[in-house]
Amino acid sequence: MSLDTFLEETRLINTGFCEKQKENISKLFNEANTNIDTFWNNRANNLDWIQTWNKTVEWEKPHAKWFVGGKLNASANCLDSHLENFGSKTAIIWESEKGDSLQLTYNDLHQKVVSFAHQLKHTYNVKKGARVTIYMPMVPELAIAVLACARIGAIHSVVFAGFSAKSLQDRIKDSQSTCLITADGGYRRGKVIPLKDIVSNALANHACPSLENVIIHQYIQANDPLPQFNSTPVHKFICDSIIEPKDDPIETMDSEDPLFILYTSGTTGKPKGIVHSTGGYMTHAKYSSELVFDLKENDIYWCTADVGWITGHSYMIYGPLSNASTIVMFEGTPDYPNQSRFWELIEKHKVSIFYTAPTAIRSFMKWGDEHITKHDLSSLRLLGTVGEPINPEAWMWYHDVIGNKNCPIVDTWWQTETGGIILTTLPSHHPSKPGSAGFALPGLSVEIKNDQNESIINGAGLLSITKPWPSMLRGVWGDEQRFKDTYWSTLETYFAGDGASIDENGYITVIGRIDDVLNVAGHRIGTMEVESALVEHPAVAEAAVVGIPDDIKGQAIVAFTILKEGISESPELISDINSIVSKQIGAIAKPKVIVSTPDLPKTRSGKIMRRLLKQVAEGQEIGDTTTLGNPDIIHEIKEKMALSNV
Ligand code: WT7
Repeated sequence: MSLDTFLEETRLINTGFCEKQKENISKLFNEANTNIDTFWNNRANNLDWIQTWNKTVEWEKPHAKWFVGGKLNASANCLDSHLENFGSKTAIIWESEKGDSLQLTYNDLHQKVVSFAHQLKHTYNVKKGARVTIYMPMVPELAIAVLACARIGAIHSVVFAGFSAKSLQDRIKDSQSTCLITADGGYRRGKVIPLKDIVSNALANHACPSLENVIIHQYIQANDPLPQFNSTPVHKFICDSIIEPKDDPIETMDSEDPLFILYTSGTTGKPKGIVHSTGGYMTHAKYSSELVFDLKENDIYWCTADVGWITGHSYMIYGPLSNASTIVMFEGTPDYPNQSRFWELIEKHKVSIFYTAPTAIRSFMKWGDEHITKHDLSSLRLLGTVGEPINPEAWMWYHDVIGNKNCPIVDTWWQTETGGIILTTLPSHHPSKPGSAGFALPGLSVEIKNDQNESIINGAGLLSITKPWPSMLRGVWGDEQRFKDTYWSTLETYFAGDGASIDENGYITVIGRIDDVLNVAGHRIGTMEVESALVEHPAVAEAAVVGIPDDIKGQAIVAFTILKEGISESPELISDINSIVSKQIGAIAKPKVIVSTPDLPKTRSGKIMRRLLKQVAEGQEIGDTTTLGNPDIIHEIKEKMALSNV
């Protein structure tokens, strides 16, 4: 998929209307244009506050405070607020990989969260503001753990269960977590992922001294003895004791108290802990999910993301639950036990809103329409996509085959850092342009800028959010300088790290990252992270990593390595080098190809020219090589690359 495919797209498609959106949208745009503070006050007022705020926003670039002086609890807004009217409504429909399903009403979920929160606070002494790392498969206990932390004011840091022991260890250490909530294992394509072994490696040799307690959900083997992790006390995850909520009041949180930390990749080898606040984050999560997904009382809403990513935080837990929606939570994968799994689930649970990623959509296309057409998907009324640019062909297929030409599509652009959706086409307001994320939501301001900070009206440049918004990141955990450098030093306004174009009608098309960050199957992976993992291998002297286009994953990783003196290349060695990436980061970061080469293209001052490596990897014409200290190496790498069959 080249950039041209996106930019040549001119089709504008009316995908149908969403009633709720239609009623509100012009009003919202007007309100935002008239007085932005009133606009956000009105959105925040849809939450339950313990104490109201006295100032909408305090902005001292790059620090924002929203709803200053306000007090609330995020978990209570997802549970307690609904008990009176929706206590017996289903909150979570959980489907296990094996095909069992379990339903929890708002009353059930509340009871379990209160029970677990009580233990966290009283038995395990988790204090307000303490960090809790959560490393769990997609089971209801994960949602319970998240909401229990929020209830007692502990800052959760969810680590995706596909990450390695080393990644988990780094995140526990960086956040100085005092408690780890985990499980003995999870299922993936019929196999058990031994999470307790991964945790054991992460905690080996007292590597995480901040940890005071580990709480483990015995999901695979309920009656096994509890594992031992050095001398850290280990306890069983229990959430069934009946505690009266009045005996354990909800923690009153300041609007600006952090709700969670979520680690994401950047341009250095070290992931950064993005910090989100309580009041501002919840305001946008509630507002954007209701508006963008047009949430109504009887919807069955399914977001396929794992809770380990920001999409799972904002559009599986906090957004839909604060709107009292019924969500589907699925433990498995779309192709197990067969490639009809998602469509069976939509038919079984009568899903009406479906939110997934372009990489998944491209896999569905490849697997063939027959898996879809044999299922009744008539319950669907709205489709969404997120995570990377969707190529127009995949968009059309999503619309025609999954949506049966009947469902609007919301292509939503946002980031871990933005907390919630920033750009999308609201089908009731604008026709959709396949591949184009569209427009800023009411209340948000986005511009495409050149590197002189000037706005571009029609053309390509850097994507910037030009006014503060409630769910903006409040910082990078423990690294103020990195926060300033990454987001606030390129332009005068927030720089997202993405390149984008804007057309004469104002449609914004996101092109992709312009920094050293890759997007593999919708997951952010830093080139430096993979390079640091590769050089951990005893045979590797130097490594450089680039992304190349991939039909399914959007991008795939190609790694170039220089082996140490005297080490000769063999298929076994290459596969061993590849596995160090899974070990250090997780399987999602594994290179598609590793090319070993005697040298890397470097400038005379020794800087690796990744641009040239990318051109070689993509089979493009090689650009200017005059600044290279070792120009001949390019031809050697080209020959090696041709042999590796990419
Ligand atoms: C990066 C953010 C937002 C939740 C999932 C990823 C890319 C995201 C789109 C989209 C084009 C997109 C951007 C962004 N991206 N959504 N609809 N169209 N690109 O969150 O891991 O923080 O990654 O994903 O490059 O910067 P994330």
